[in-house]
Formats: sequence, C-alpha cells, structure tokens
Amino acid sequence: MLNFEEDTKPAGMPLGMMRPGAFDAVTMKKPVVATGNAEQADSAAPARTAGRIRVEDKRIINCNADVNQLVPFKYKWAWEKYLAACANHWMPQEVNMTADIALWKSDKLSEDERLLVKRNLGFFTTADSLAANNIVLGTYRHISNPECRQYLLRQAFEEAIHTHAYQYIVESLGLDEGEIFNMYHEVASIRAKDEFLLPFIDTLTNPAFKTGTPEADRQLLRSLIVFACIMEGLFFYVGFVQILALGRQNKMTGAAEQYQYILRDESMHLNFGVDVINQIKMENPHLWTSEFREEVRGLIRKGVELEYAYAEDTMPRGVLGLNSSMFKEYLRFIANRRCQQIGVDVLYQGATNPFPWMAEMIDLKKEKNFFETRVTEYQTGGALSWD
Ligand SMILES: [Fe+2]
Ligand SMILES: [Fe+2]
Repeated sequence: MLNFEEDTKPAGMPLGMMRPGAFDAVTMKKPVVATGNAEQADSAAPARTAGRIRVEDKRIINCNADVNQLVPFKYKWAWEKYLAACANHWMPQEVNMTADIALWKSDKLSEDERLLVKRNLGFFTTADSLAANNIVLGTYRHISNPECRQYLLRQAFEEAIHTHAYQYIVESLGLDEGEIFNMYHEVASIRAKDEFLLPFIDTLTNPAFKTGTPEADRQLLRSLIVFACIMEGLFFYVGFVQILALGRQNKMTGAAEQYQYILRDESMHLNFGVDVINQIKMENPHLWTSEFREEVRGLIRKGVELEYAYAEDTMPRGVLGLNSSMFKEYLRFIANRRCQQIGVDVLYQGATNPFPWMAEMIDLKKEKNFFETRVTEYQTGGALSWD
C-alpha cells in the first residue's frame, strides 16, 4: 500500500520567507494563515500567523498554499522519487550501438524481426513526445504541490531523453525517418492508441480547463489514470517485451539496453502517477464513486484491447518465440495489476504472467521498491548486464 507521510510538523521549519499578501494568480498563492482557512487568508489582517506554509495546508490539487516553497515536505514519496530518478540519470549516446548496426546490416534478422523493430519504434518515437507535452502543458499546471512538481520536471526531462533514445536508434540503424516518425499517422494500430489518448491529454492542456469542481476534478483524475495506468502502464509494455526479448536472444543489444533504462524510468513514472492518483482519492473521497470506478475499469479494458491489436499488428505471424495470444494474457495480467494499484476491481480473474523473465526484470510485485532494491547497481548511467 501507499506510504503516505502525513508529516504534521508545526510551521516554523527552515522555510523561505513569504511576503504576506503577495500573490499572483498563476504562480503564487496567497499565504495561508495558520488556521488553514482560505477565507481568512484572504482577509486583510493575517499578520499574526500568516506567511509560513504549514504541511497540513498542502494538497495535491486545488491547494491554496504557495507552490514556490518546496519545504516543508508533505509527500516524501514524491521527493524520494525525484532523488532516485536523478541518481538514475543516463543519456542515449552512452550506449554503444555498434553491434546493432552490424546486425541490422547483416542477413541475420528475419523480415518479421525487422517489422517488429520498425513498428515498435513507430509507436515510441512519438509517444514520449506526447507524454512530455502532456506533462509540461497539462498535468503540471493542475498539480498544486511543489514536491510533486519537482518530480514532474524531472519526469518531463526523462521523456525528452526517451525521445532522444528512439531517435538515436533510428539514426544509428539508418532507418527511414519519415517512415518511422509518421507511423503514428499511417499505421492503424498505432494511430488507434494515440487517438484513444488524445481527448484525455486535450482536457489537461486546454487553457480553459481548471480544477475546483467535482466534475473538473474527476476529469483531471480520469486523465491522470489514463496517462499513468494505460499509457505508461499498458501501452508501453508490448513494446518493452519485444525489444527486451530481442536482447535476451543477443540481438539488438544496444537498443535493448536503452529500453531497459527506459523501462526503469517508466516504472517510476507509473508508480509516481499511482501515488498521485491515490493521494487525490484520499484527499477528495467524493470523487471516487462506484460509477467512476466502473468507468475507469471500462477505460482499462479498452486499453487492453488497443494494445492487443498493436501486438497482433507488430507480430502478425509470431516472432522470437512470442505470439499475440501470449501478449493477450500478459496484458490482462498487468491490467489487473493496474486495477489493484489504484483500487478498482480486477478485470480478468486468474490471468497469469506468460513472461516470467519480465517479472524478474521489473518484478511487478515489487514495483514500489524496484529502484530501492537496485539503485546502487544503476547509479548514473552505469551499464546494465544481461543475465
Ligand atoms: Fe518515456
Ligand atoms: Fe513516462
């Protein structure tokens, strides 16, 4: 379960100074008085206690406390993820692509394997730009908590690194850039995934959209769930399995190493998103109705269908000992996991994991602690080993 740090240390921790009464509608909220009552914060006589943020005044959404003050921390899980993400920093050009280039030029890859690699990149080359734009132009504006924003800033940069990694692979292999980067328009199963996502991204990036009503807050929550649990938590996984399966067969090992770094990053993005979603639920229980939970289950079910269609499309005849029915089972297995993570009933009773080696790499049962258990191995761009 979640590890909420309800730190209720009193005001007067080592804080930056506030200017009582100073605020700006976009970047700074008016200081909250010690009562935590926003009405009083708006009054003209807050001098006795106003000006210092109390941890109990902090909220993930619709918060009235100044977002420019990082401390006192309320959500230590967000800060810890920020630190862990920075410790795991890597850059694509640190990975040697020589073996991949030689293999791609040789006759040792089948046409099915080549199709798999190209369609895989065809999704990812634009997916992470979509993710970055969703964070920067959407989510970030609506999350009114500085430690969560600090993580989102890091996450946004990681999405840029991922886009860079995919571009680096495309360039290294000498693939047709126009073909790969346009697949999200031109390949139906890729376009269908993006078209599913776009309305939820558009909600958050719409300049007119604001939280603060149950309807709008639920819209935000819905978009956060789609982004974390379906995009980052389902739509990436067929692609990860494919390239990591190649790597396990000693093919495309440079690309596979990059995908493993990306998987590590995305696993943390997912876990952060789940923590944010669950914290919003806790702070706003009125949003989490049975009707809404059923709607969420329907969205996850739709996500599984779209990702399964993508699996069939990238591996029409089966490849690497993998076939699309294995992916159907795998998607059901991880969809159940997403349901459990955010507290809705599982969709596919009895689904099992047909790729136990993936579980070893990203042990789903230990997702919460994934990096804590491996962080010393992975510090700052160290090479991953395949075993
Ligand atoms: Fe990414
Ligand atoms: Fe991500």
